[in-house]
Formats: sequence, structure tokens, C-alpha cells
Amino acid sequence: MPTLMRNHWLSRSAPLFRLYPVFLVAIAGVFLVTPLSAQNAPVPPILLGTSWYPEQWPEARWEADLSLMENAGIRMVHMGEFAWSRIEPSEGHYDFDWLDRAVAAAGKHGMWVVLGTPTAGPPAWLTEKYPETLRVNREGKLAEHGNREQFNFANLKYRELARGIAERMAKRFGHNPVVIGWQIDNEYTEASFDANTRKQFQQWLKARYGTLEKLNSAWTTPYWSETYFSWDQIPIQDEYGNPGILLNWKRFVSDTWRSYQKNQLEVIRANADPRQFITTNMMGWFEGYDHYTVAQDLDIAAWDDYVGQGHLDPVRNGAAHDLTRGLKQKNFWVMETQPGFVNWAPINNSLDKGEVRAMAWHDIGHGADAVSYWQWRSALNGQEEYHGTLVGADGSPVPLYSEVQQIGQEFARAGPALAGTSPRSDVAILHSYDSRWAIMYQKHNRNYDPIDELLSYYKPLRRISQSIDIVPPTARLESYKLVVAPGLNVISDAIAENLIEYVRQGGHLVLGQRSGMKDENNGLQPERQPGPLVNLLGGRVEQYYALTDSIPIEGNFGSAKSQAMQGKLWAELLSAKEDDVEVLARYGKSNGWLDGQPVAITRKVGRGRITYIGAWFDEEGMEAAGEWMLDISGVKSALASVPQGVEVYPRYGTNKVVYVIVNFANDAQTVVLPVSMADVLAGGVKKSVSLVRFGVAVLSAVQ
Ligand code: GAL
Repeated sequence: MPTLMRNHWLSRSAPLFRLYPVFLVAIAGVFLVTPLSAQNAPVPPILLGTSWYPEQWPEARWEADLSLMENAGIRMVHMGEFAWSRIEPSEGHYDFDWLDRAVAAAGKHGMWVVLGTPTAGPPAWLTEKYPETLRVNREGKLAEHGNREQFNFANLKYRELARGIAERMAKRFGHNPVVIGWQIDNEYTEASFDANTRKQFQQWLKARYGTLEKLNSAWTTPYWSETYFSWDQIPIQDEYGNPGILLNWKRFVSDTWRSYQKNQLEVIRANADPRQFITTNMMGWFEGYDHYTVAQDLDIAAWDDYVGQGHLDPVRNGAAHDLTRGLKQKNFWVMETQPGFVNWAPINNSLDKGEVRAMAWHDIGHGADAVSYWQWRSALNGQEEYHGTLVGADGSPVPLYSEVQQIGQEFARAGPALAGTSPRSDVAILHSYDSRWAIMYQKHNRNYDPIDELLSYYKPLRRISQSIDIVPPTARLESYKLVVAPGLNVISDAIAENLIEYVRQGGHLVLGQRSGMKDENNGLQPERQPGPLVNLLGGRVEQYYALTDSIPIEGNFGSAKSQAMQGKLWAELLSAKEDDVEVLARYGKSNGWLDGQPVAITRKVGRGRITYIGAWFDEEGMEAAGEWMLDISGVKSALASVPQGVEVYPRYGTNKVVYVIVNFANDAQTVVLPVSMADVLAGGVKKSVSLVRFGVAVLSAVQ
């Protein structure tokens, strides 16, 4: 969830008692252990971390906190991202000494440090002296000091100041052996709607379209007399407006966040050792900018994984991991995650006992190489007093501490087996921000959510195949046996070419409902859906219908057994134009137009295949369709079929595969293994494993 929204959940309770050390007993044993030193050891392959804000505490307290962290197996601290006012208390006067000491103290306790540049929280003097750096919201209201993110991402003065502080930090810590990486800013969220940003948007459009003639034509501006005669007439439109402006505004915002980031990234890169990675903490499904655009300059992708209200949904959360892994197509970090509960959801319930550990292993299984808890300890005042932590206001461990300690021990034990491994799949799901935005701006059915649409395909495909990649439609696809594009609404020429080539080379492409309706200007394709893929498909969409009620669907989906399936929200009437097109399923009796008409068609093209599914199937329907897709494409389960609720996550390395298995079912479950495997956590060799609810096994096999 965007950071700023969380600020709306301000709850300022009475100041807590300033009680210090009741924690002495808890940490007594720690001092008997010889402290590790980060500098003298290699970085562990799997890291447990936490966000620590030394600037909020007296220095005399640091040692106790770091000892408790070390005792929990925490090997990484994430800090600095909100410390600008402490680092530069007045313009041009810097105090880095305390941060030097904090980093060194963490190193002494065997921890590595990820430093955040502090630009999401500019100090009051800055805002006061340079009011032009303030953000203007959609309604034209100027932000102010007192929360965070009051800055304007496009403002040149702010960029100069942000670059300045990032450069100073990089010069100071770029060669520090304890610092292993950098996080730029914190959760890019809010665009600005001020006059200068609008000017930049107009210039951006000029660079994209070249002439007003081209722009007017691409956006069909004679419509409602919208024609532009000069660039400065073009407005920002963000919620309702010309579809061409809407989509381009989002792209402009994405490019602006990219250049905002690059501004800092360049000075860090120029001053830091190459071993120090640069990332930023993204937000999973957040739709405010195109993550592919922003991630391209980073070394690794990272995201903040919060459940909020309720419990971990391994499907939705797992897909967000796969999305993040797809940004750089390699392992990623969970830079922040909740220690039990948050403070910003409508009901901030805690995850159950065991669920935090299950979630940590679910993260690793999806390709995370670090899991870091936000935050270590709550500041005694400030907007987030109620957030979950690992130690309480009194500085002693909360009940969750011992579960996190267990995770720390397990990460250390499993590290060598997991080193050099990452998930890999035969199945790719295509995800595109352009398409998501295009559908969100014109849902046509207010209940149509493009992420839920993607998940409706992801769920059965992931359950059966046990591993999915989520990649953009421009990615290289030749290694996949099956490529599924749910709601690929916007298809540019380059995307069309990539997909056609994939099928011609022998791949199986499945297009989900609403695919191929728009071009890259968010205008309608001049053909029916799926636009540039109609010829390849040998069929097309004759008409689309938003649905108020579910409708019946009848079909066999190849060898999958016939199901009583339903379609909901959306239905497209398909037609087969070529003789070799096979109808997989038809609509039952519904609105008359659809009755008996094709809902899913498929066609073999050389060694490849293309399929179009025109309705949002219910779960049974998606199960049948998913089974059929995998089967006909030759995709097998990564491990074996497992009981319902058990998740299998394979990570592959050279000559080995490590399976993380987590039981999210309510009861204990047994997984029978196809071959004997080494039990990495419990020891020994196993032919089957029994897992209680939230139980975890890590198994290693030779490949
Ligand atoms: C994140 C943010 C953190 C903290 C956390 C609380 O969005 O990056 O600074 O506010 O939420 O859940």
C-alpha cells in the first residue's frame, strides 16, 4: 500500500512510558558469544534483516538492540532512509559521525547494512527555504512538512538537493565494508500536478510524438473538439479524460520516477564500490508507475511485502513475488515485511503463530534472497507507534521474536543449499502496465479488476506447475512452453511481433479476455480483437458483453473432464474464420447473443499454437482450462502432485534443485516425494514429509 495512504491512519496515543532496560535478562547470554564481524565473513546467501532507526534512540541503547538482533540471527540492517534532518540539520552542515558509528556497531555484531537515501523525508528547513520543492496534489493543494513525501518528484531544485545528499552519503559510505547496498528513496508513490510538471509532461509528449499533427491524429482529438493547436494547451488527465492522455500521463510519471531515481543512482554509482548494489523498495501490485521502466537501472529488484488486514494469501502474494522477480528476471529482496501486524489497515490483526515463518519461507521459495522486518522497534512517538515490531517499547523481545529467531537459525542452516539457486519455470504469464491502466480507466464492468483477472489464470497454473514466471510482453519468450496473456489489452507492433514469433517458433500462446483491443495510444485497434493477432488466431471477437450475472459455459477442454463451468463479469462472442480452428467451449443459454456461441478457440500453427479465451471463467472453469493448457503444452509439475493447500517452490542451481514446501492448509499434510531427498532443515534423507499447518520443509535433490 502506498506510504502516504498509511499516513491517514494516524493514531496518536498518549506517549508511552520511557522505560528502558527490562531487557537485560533476555540478552544476558548474548554477551557470552564472541561477536561476529561482518567485514571478515562472506555475505550469507539468504539474509534475515530488519529496519533499524538509530537516530531515534540514545546511542547508549544501540549495543543492546544490536545484541538482540544478533541473537535472533538477523544479519542485515536497513537504515538511514528517514534520517535527513539528523544527517543535515541545517543546510550545508552535515553530521555523519553518528551514522558511521551505527554502521560500525552493526558490523561488529556480524550484520551488513543497506543504506537508504533519505529523500522521502526532506527536513523542515528545506521545505521552508525551497517551497517550490513541494508537491501539488490532484486537487491543487500544496503538501506541507509534518508527514513524509511532501516533495515534488519533477522539481529541479529538489533533484539538486536530493542528488547532493545522496552524493555525500555515497562518498562517505561507498567503500564502507559493512555497507552492501543502497536503497534509493522509499516507496515512490505520489506524482505532482503543478504547473511545471505539466510543462514537463507537454515537453515529454513533444519528444514522443514530434508534431501536434501526429498527436492529434493518434488521440483522435476532433472528438469533442479536443484538437490541440499548441503544446501548452495539453492538460494533465489522470482519472477521466482522453484515453491517449491518460495512458501517456502514466508513462510520463514512470519516466519521471526513473529520472528521479537516476539522479541519485548516478552519484552513488560514481562513488560506491561495484559490490554495493543499488535498489529501491517497490510495492508489489502498486499501479502508480511502470515498474519495468523504473527497475531497468537497478541492480536488483526489491519490494515491501505487507499483508495488512487478514492472512497471507499465498496466491496473490506469491504472484506479487513473481512479478517482482520478473522485473530483473532474477532473485530479489523483500526489503520490508510485517512483524506480525501493521498499523494502517482497517483492522490490524496479527498473523497467526507460525504464519510469519511460513511467509518468510514462501518469500524465499519465490526467489527472495532476503527477508527484512519493518521495523525492529517502534519509536516512542511518531505516526507508526502501533505497528508490529520485534522488540517492545521497553526494549525487550515481543512474543514474535522467538519465531523470527527460528527463521534466523533456519536461514543460516539452509543458506549453503540455497546459494546460487533461483526459481525457473516453463510457464510465463505476461503482465503489462499499459494494459492494466487501459482496463482500469475503462473497466466497462466496475467489478473488473485486471489483477484479479491475472490471478484467475495464475492460480491453477501455479498450483499444477508449481512455478510461474511473470514477465512483460516484450520479454524473450523462447524458453517457455506456455505463455499466457490475461487481458493483454494494449498490443503495440513490437509486442505483436514478439508474440507471433513465439508461436511460429513452436510456443503455445493463450490470450485471455480483453486482449488485443487497444494500440499503444490507447486507441481502438482498427481490427476486432485480438487486433494484430487475428490472422494468427484464424478467429476473432465479434462482440464483447459486460455481465451482471454469471452465465453457463459448456466444454471439454481436451482431455480435461467436462465441467459445469460459469463465466462472470465479461463475455466475448468469438468466431472461427479458418477451418483448422477448434472450438474448445461454448456459452450456454444466456443473453441470446451468446447462446451456443464459441467462448474459447484454439489453432495449431506449425509446431506452435494460439488459443483465445473470451470469458472470465469461474474457479472450476479455470482449473479445467489450466489443466488443458499445461497438458497440451507439455508442462509437468516441478515436484509432484501435493495435497490441497500445500505450496511447492522449486529453486534450481547447478546440478541441484531445492524445494521449499509450506503447508498453508488448516490441517497437517503429508507430501510423498518422487525420490529420496536431503532434508535441509531437519537433517536426514526423506521419502516423504509431514507438515503441520504452517509447517515448512526444505529439501535438496541432485539434478
Ligand atoms: C512502508 C514504509 C515504511 C513503513 C511501513 C509500515 O510502506 O516504507 O516506512 O511506513 O510501510 O507498514
